[in-house]
Amino acid sequence: MSRDGGLHVAIIMDGNGRWAKRRGLPRTLGHREGVKALRRTVEGAPDIGVSTLTVFGFSTENWRRPMTEVSELMNLLKAYVESDLDRLAREGVKVTILGRRTGLRPDILEIIERAERRTENNTRFRLQVAFNYGGQADLVDAARKFAEAVARGEARPEDLDEQLFESHLSTAGVPTPDVIVRTSGERRISNFLLWECAYAELVFQDVYWPDYGPDHLAAAVGEFRSRERRYGGVTTDDVLATG
Ligand code: FPP
Repeated sequence: MSRDGGLHVAIIMDGNGRWAKRRGLPRTLGHREGVKALRRTVEGAPDIGVSTLTVFGFSTENWRRPMTEVSELMNLLKAYVESDLDRLAREGVKVTILGRRTGLRPDILEIIERAERRTENNTRFRLQVAFNYGGQADLVDAARKFAEAVARGEARPEDLDEQLFESHLSTAGVPTPDVIVRTSGERRISNFLLWECAYAELVFQDVYWPDYGPDHLAAAVGEFRSRERRYGGVTTDDVLATG
């Protein structure tokens, strides 16, 4: 849970391709509708008690898709930031892009940096877009940063614990997700937030991402609230019952 008491929900926005295929449309149109779903979901999130949203926009594995689709996904991130940045900034949204910057086009790098710089002091809501992100790559990068600190003589191997390791991840400083949602009926984590998912509730929703919106997010949060969270320990009730 975030410091402000709001929930952190992370979403694997899946099913854009199938949504389009079912309508006889090109996959890229599914992604375009996916941006609209993202916009609706971000807008509705604060009223549902969500204060951080992390979405999987482009994975390190997505480079294997046809060049036209890769370039469409890049263009969509750019178009989304260009059209929504003013409003996001005005509404107090802090935008962060998770993932590797290497390999991204200069215009994409520029737009990412612009969005982050413009919104860095915002505190009302946090939007993290995982883009060119892979959970394993993020763990490797964190390990490398720590190893480099050791090589420079700034840290010792025995200093490393969970807290220090976490401080090298691209999600450092952000409370881990309470809920990870995957849409479209698939039930895999697909290299998303591998460290951060340790205690998250997993919610799978049978809706293609382009059809998603605040009602679906509210349902996911409702599912989360109905589950008991134990963090590997016991609940207050258990302690009272056993003495
Ligand atoms: C999965 O659908 C979705 C993606 C690979 C990308 C998600 C991207 C967006 C919602 C739009 C643009 C992103 C941003 C950051 C503004 P899929 O293509 O794997 O669907 P399928 O499994 O049905 O083929």
